[in-house]
Amino acid sequence: MKRYLVVLITIAMLISMVPVLGLAGAQDDMTIVVIGKSVHPYWSNVELGVKAAGEALGLPEDQVIFFVPPREDVAAQIQAMETYIAAGVTGIAIAPSDPAALEPVMARAAEAGIWVTTLDTPPVEDSVSTVYIGTDNFTAGTIAGEAMLQLLPDGGKVGIGRGSDTALNALQRTDGFLAAIEGSNIEALEPVNDREDFGTALQLANSVISANPDLAGAFGVYAYNGPAWATAVTEADMVGDIKVVAFDATTDHINFIMSGAIQATVAQREYDMGYQSVMVIAALAQNEDTEAVLAEFGAVEGVIDTGVDVLTPANVKDYEAGLDEKGVPHEWTTADWEPAEDAFEFVMPEEEEAAEMEEAVATEEAAE
Ligand code: BGC
Repeated sequence: MKRYLVVLITIAMLISMVPVLGLAGAQDDMTIVVIGKSVHPYWSNVELGVKAAGEALGLPEDQVIFFVPPREDVAAQIQAMETYIAAGVTGIAIAPSDPAALEPVMARAAEAGIWVTTLDTPPVEDSVSTVYIGTDNFTAGTIAGEAMLQLLPDGGKVGIGRGSDTALNALQRTDGFLAAIEGSNIEALEPVNDREDFGTALQLANSVISANPDLAGAFGVYAYNGPAWATAVTEADMVGDIKVVAFDATTDHINFIMSGAIQATVAQREYDMGYQSVMVIAALAQNEDTEAVLAEFGAVEGVIDTGVDVLTPANVKDYEAGLDEKGVPHEWTTADWEPAEDAFEFVMPEEEEAAEMEEAVATEEAAE
């Protein structure tokens, strides 16, 4: 009887271990690749998220691979895809600098049984990418446009610097920005393209400033564009005269917010993009039901929206506290700094409309 019980218990233990062993076995030979767009602190934050996810999954370091070309380089991204297809990896998450040019090689990866997802910048419509993980770029662009409207209530000329004429995130942010300022007195200049090269971005910012002595504002579409504008504005001794609205929140952004050269920035959650990309591929590779996995990660119509935060001098300290609470690493600190009393504070559009209506009602009531 005793022996019978021992056998039963052993079988029960073995059964309860099966899924765990199965999972560990699947992870042992799992390799996940994330391909970004350029060498930049923004992408270093993505990489931190990628590595953190690898650790959380217990994957050996060489089975979580992160690759970026030095600057925008579609051919290098295609080449990297080819290499990882040949290596037979489990999944590839890619930020396609030119989604139409990348789609055929992404399709070849999918045909080879490799999970393909996208991050940071969306793929073409009807892509083989199982899910896009990143910012809703059009909406984020409208937020940048709203910030510019609030900074320039009387309008004026605004320069736009961006790092791509093909990546959908750059195009959608620009479209969103233009949609938000439409009908206002803000006149947007033709965007200038630096192909993700900070030196070129700075040169272009300098030339736009010298060619337009009446420049009232500048919009930086990619992570280094805001700091490029802020550097040019600082060198031209125009801090505060030319309002700068940026994207992202690297050390440079925060330093320029504290110096007064950047008035607002739309901070993406790139660490989360990297982390989620790895987690989603690992889950897809280990579960039959793709839809259930995507639903569990909060995907809606093939998109996991990582969200944005709008940073201004008024809330950058709270933002830092929020990051610390979430455990998201950052090199910068706002300790020892306080915003000026009249520092710009962004009001989300609906709130502003609501405030205007509230004010109108109050004025009416006062008149009665
Ligand atoms: C964009 C990336 C780009 C990065 C650095 C970010 O704002 O989302 O696509 O590579 O800036 O240029």
